[in-house]
Amino acid sequence: MLSNVGSVAQPDEVVLVIDFGAQYAQLIARRVRELRVYSEIVSHQVTVEEILAKQPKALILSGGPKSVNEEGAPSLDPAILELGIPMLGICYGAQLLAQQLPGGVVSRDESGEYGRSEMSRIADSASTLLPADLPNEQTVWMSHFDAITHAPNGFVATASSAGSPVAVFENSKTKVFGVQYHPEVGHTPHGQALLKQFLLHEAGCRGNWTMGSIIEASVAAIVDQVGDGKAICALSGGVDSAVAAAMVHRAIGDRLTCIYVDTGLMRLNESDQIVETFERNHGIKLIHVTAGERYFEKLAGVTEPETKRKIIGEQFIRIFEEFARSLDGEEYLVQGTLYPDVIESGTSDAAKIKSHHNVGGLPDDLSFDLVEPLRNLFKDEVRKVGSELGLPDEIVLRQPFPGPGLGVRIIGEVTREKVEVLQQADAIVRQEIAAAGLEQELWQAFAVLPDIRTVGVMGDERTYAHPIIVRAVTSEDAMTADWARLPYELLERLSNRIINEVDGVNRVAYDITSKPPGTIEWE
Ligand code: XMP
Repeated sequence: MLSNVGSVAQPDEVVLVIDFGAQYAQLIARRVRELRVYSEIVSHQVTVEEILAKQPKALILSGGPKSVNEEGAPSLDPAILELGIPMLGICYGAQLLAQQLPGGVVSRDESGEYGRSEMSRIADSASTLLPADLPNEQTVWMSHFDAITHAPNGFVATASSAGSPVAVFENSKTKVFGVQYHPEVGHTPHGQALLKQFLLHEAGCRGNWTMGSIIEASVAAIVDQVGDGKAICALSGGVDSAVAAAMVHRAIGDRLTCIYVDTGLMRLNESDQIVETFERNHGIKLIHVTAGERYFEKLAGVTEPETKRKIIGEQFIRIFEEFARSLDGEEYLVQGTLYPDVIESGTSDAAKIKSHHNVGGLPDDLSFDLVEPLRNLFKDEVRKVGSELGLPDEIVLRQPFPGPGLGVRIIGEVTREKVEVLQQADAIVRQEIAAAGLEQELWQAFAVLPDIRTVGVMGDERTYAHPIIVRAVTSEDAMTADWARLPYELLERLSNRIINEVDGVNRVAYDITSKPPGTIEWE
């Protein structure tokens, strides 16, 4: 039972998270998916017809930054409340239900409530939403200035807190519920139990959205879209393109051809590993273009970071163009687009599917239909799917690595010799971080080669050689980052090994700059 939009498979059990802004919806969608119920985010401007077309098992109304009593605050088409679909309003979503349903009152008289709060059951026997095994008092995370003072007609208030006379209200007949607190955040210890109770018990979801079912549905959708056609995929070495390629290969086998461009700017042994994984282990047709010389020629004498990026990007397009022209009727292009890329801002709808697209910079006569099998998935789900498809941890758990590769970690002119020095130093950083068990705790850890030399002494000799800068950061999304407090013993090992094992390096520095004011990369 699948409905396909391009290569995107929609499972038969869907929960819609209605987004009232400020990023709350993504976390809710992820929590729902952790309960093995597929969820999608839609704007609060969603129409009744759009909702009915998705046949959702439940609707969840997210929190939002506004007050429901403010002029122009986002609301919901009242007809949606009449659909008879089980519904859970969270924070702003709960206040909206209280405001839009007859008899409910949202007032500003209370003092507001922020952070951890103690919530108590009231009218206990009337509750079907708060699982019986939950304590009568529980800590919940609140963030609101208005408060619900009266539940709507036909609803029972089943919990309250100091700043929320009605912290939970329920109508177990219509299966409409509101919670003032945020069950989706980690600071509400029993939050997931509440979501589980709503989805699996009240809304009747089965929770059968597993990695296996995702792959099965995606493969069917790709077969449906591509038919007897042929597809190509450019592998970058990163997880998204790798998982997308592995998924499409499972669907259409030899009718997929991948291209991997070795720019000469990859990390030590990385290109070998990509070829090994795809060609030898997975039997995927792979065109491996060794283009290092070409890149080094174009980069000779270039020192400005953005010019380097532009040259590296352009070379890729030209190589891809040559490859695309040599093809024999391939009309589909596989891309590893993820769900966060397609969710637009909180007020607009999830992005429309673009079915005909071009790789930026390719001439107009070379255009492909896109196959985007990961469009519905968050990054952590993509990693799990990748493992299920048999890809190795080196690929599915790989830290982010910039497209221009070591080209932006060598400050100043990029040469083959400098790349070799940096590859050796970078490999030591990654080996030692992995040996210390810290790889998955860090967003990125790598080495940088600056365009200077420093004086040192090794044995009885004076040296005049390169320093290496070690950069390791923690981050949630790369928008901000903190320098990692690596143990001194680890830093000491890194320093000793890099200086002893890498020719041409006589000093190691550790970057203790957060973002902002720094960036993660040095260029
Ligand atoms: P910055 O240095 O801006 O990096 O703090 C944020 C994240 O983006 C990655 N990055 C790039 N990725 N092409 C890419 O594909 C680039 O030109 C590029 N520059 C930075 C960086 O590794 C970090 O994860």
